[in-house]
Amino acid sequence: MNKTIYDKHYLTMEYFGEPYPGLVDFFKGLNRNQTILDLGCGQGRDLFFLANLGFNMIGVDHSLVGIEQVRSRARQLKLNISVDVADIYEYPIPPEVDVVLMDSMLHFYKNDIQKETELVNSILNQLKKGGLFCNCLIKGNEREMILKKIIENSRFEWNIIYEDYIEYPENSSDYHLLVIEK
Ligand SMILES: C[S@@+](CC[C@H](N)C(=O)[O-])C[C@H]1O[C@@H](n2cnc3c(N)ncnc32)[C@H](O)[C@@H]1O
Repeated sequence: MNKTIYDKHYLTMEYFGEPYPGLVDFFKGLNRNQTILDLGCGQGRDLFFLANLGFNMIGVDHSLVGIEQVRSRARQLKLNISVDVADIYEYPIPPEVDVVLMDSMLHFYKNDIQKETELVNSILNQLKKGGLFCNCLIKGNEREMILKKIIENSRFEWNIIYEDYIEYPENSSDYHLLVIEK
């Protein structure tokens, strides 16, 4: 993998801070006997709190720096977290995955809409029946509507399990947390 801008950012430990309290609360209410795939896991902000809750965790990111940090911390903490350095646009969803998590990964900037739409569609198609797609998107009417449209236009039926705005205290901003079940 080529170096990415995040390799530089991640020279600062915990660059994105703590997991969002609203995301923590949501996962505390879920059955722990599940495998979660964190697409674009970065330095493992979400991987570690979810592994500590008892979920089986798989993380993927194209930042080698971020993934190496996750590997080393997981070894220290003796947590069984499986990670891969890979491009999420080409990463097949393993069949054992119950929940796909994307945290701060989609933005739907004009130039990225098509690419991100194809990515979401591919995830929705590959996710197993009964599986969850959990997305945190920075608050914004237009981008939230784009995501909703992709889901509505999907050939599968989806139940909304959770939808709310959650706080990102480090950044004084709000995120839209949407969790849907196939
Ligand atoms: C805004 S950060 C979010 C990190 C993490 N989800 C979190 O919330 O702490 C975006 C992450 O996505 C990764 N990323 C962006 N595009 C990617 C791609 N095509 N394949 C794999 N990782 C990617 C970056 O390396 C970075 O770690």
